[in-house]
Amino acid sequence: MKVLITGANGQLGHDVSAELDKRHIENRGIDIEDLDITKKEDVACYISDFDPDVVVHCAAYTAVDKAEDEPEKCEKINFKGTENIALACKENDAAMLYISTDYVFDGASKEIWSPEDEPDPGSVYGRTKYQGEQTVRENLEKHFIIRIAWAFGKNGNNFVKTMLGLGKKNIVPKVVDDQFGSPTYTRDLAVLIADMIGSDKYGTYHATNEGFCTWHEFASEIFKKAKMDIKPIPCKTEDYPFKAKRPKNSRLSKDKLTEKGFNRLPSWQDALDRYFKELEE
Ligand SMILES: NC(=O)c1ccc[n+]([C@@H]2O[C@H](COP(=O)([O-])OP(=O)(O)OC[C@H]3O[C@@H](n4cnc5c(N)ncnc54)[C@H](OP(=O)(O)O)[C@@H]3O)[C@@H](O)[C@H]2O)c1
Repeated sequence: MKVLITGANGQLGHDVSAELDKRHIENRGIDIEDLDITKKEDVACYISDFDPDVVVHCAAYTAVDKAEDEPEKCEKINFKGTENIALACKENDAAMLYISTDYVFDGASKEIWSPEDEPDPGSVYGRTKYQGEQTVRENLEKHFIIRIAWAFGKNGNNFVKTMLGLGKKNIVPKVVDDQFGSPTYTRDLAVLIADMIGSDKYGTYHATNEGFCTWHEFASEIFKKAKMDIKPIPCKTEDYPFKAKRPKNSRLSKDKLTEKGFNRLPSWQDALDRYFKELEE
């Protein structure tokens, strides 16, 4: 199997490439300096030349709040860029794995979201990621879509690193305690992705680490595990100046992974322990 990975300078793309290396699966990780996914002709040529069996598409516009001010740019990357890849995969008979987000849901329901629930994104980022999903479904039969949430990995910025940075300066942050979800350790997700692309169990999945929490609980656990004597101050979404609307309930059901015979990710607390070790490596 030969795999092309976009977004390889980012958190997830980096870990997917490392996991495939570990399994001796031929892969090439690329980022914007190798291929700008918004350039349709370039994408078609690149994929035709490399001739992958699977493209794991991790590249994206991920600045959720900034996206509210530059919706065209966000749409160009997350929707059109994804479409360019899906069309090139179709032309070359390659499968595609697209990473999506909990932000496709409005988060108003109290239920745990299943992959079959109807998305209704409340932000530019969520809308463009959903458009990306739709174009993958419309253009390519051989596709996997995995919705993840609250990602953290070594190769990039994320909430865990932000909290540790504040902790080192002894700053006690205010953290929302009315948004519920689950963190996703990109190293754990990379294991699932490597398993999935070795199968033909196409479809839409949810994958995060096991267990649910609020951002406040997540922050408290980060400080506890880092042995920092900091108690974050709980606050409400309304008290926090986010530009983009976030889903209050982004708890995703991972039952479909079990039904299809895939291993689920370990608990988010266990993932955090291993992430701290990885940061020290
Ligand atoms: N991070 C999260 O909390 C989270 C949550 C849910 C879903 N996701 C999804 O998970 C996937 C991986 O996220 P991540 O956190 O690993 O992202 P990331 O660290 O932001 O990496 C994304 C990579 O894509 C690159 N990129 C941006 N525009 C591009 C273009 N036009 N052509 C080629 N490459 C381009 C970025 O380059 P630059 O840095 O130079 O822009 C960056 O290296 C994304 O699809 C994201 O939407 C992430």
